[in-house]
Amino acid sequence: MTFRKRLGKALLMAGIAPVMLAAAADNQNFHNAPAAVKNVKSPLAGQAGAVQAGGKLFLAKCRRCHGTEGQGGGNTPALTRAEVRAATDGELFWFIANGSEETGMPAWDNLSDTERWQLVAFVRSLGGKPASPAPAASTTK
Ligand code: HEC
Repeated sequence: MTFRKRLGKALLMAGIAPVMLAAAADNQNFHNAPAAVKNVKSPLAGQAGAVQAGGKLFLAKCRRCHGTEGQGGGNTPALTRAEVRAATDGELFWFIANGSEETGMPAWDNLSDTERWQLVAFVRSLGGKPASPAPAASTTK
């Protein structure tokens, strides 16, 4: 692991950990994600290879529950649904890292930050069409 990567992880954890405890009651956010993760930006934004790399990880780690196209099945939701598309990158990253013990989504805390951001990029790419109407939060794109 490079120093830069470790530093990035430390900064991210330092920012997120206190709020994870504080914001558990706020259910306005995607899967009760703490408010502070909402605006965390992907360091891979705009990087050409991120979606492809995320796709490979997805097939290896996520397909068995979420399906090849993220279509879901059984008790596993489709990753193309409106709530997922409305979630910010930071919220998706947080949920992928933490999962949900009660509902059966594993916590992917053994992946690197880069791998999780690649998965976020891939999940974002699912569904083809751009989300409509554009949520107000995405005007910075
Ligand atoms: C063992 C089955 C399983 C695996 C493997 C799995 N998931 Fe999930 N996932 C779930 C279930 C069940 C939920 C619904 C959780 C909930 O609603 O609380 C879920 C929910 C999600 C959500 C939120 C979807 C929504 O509609 O709100 C995302 C994003 C997600 N998973 C991403 C991933 C990624 C990325 C991977 C691979 C690294 C992965 N999952 C692997 C079972 C799985």
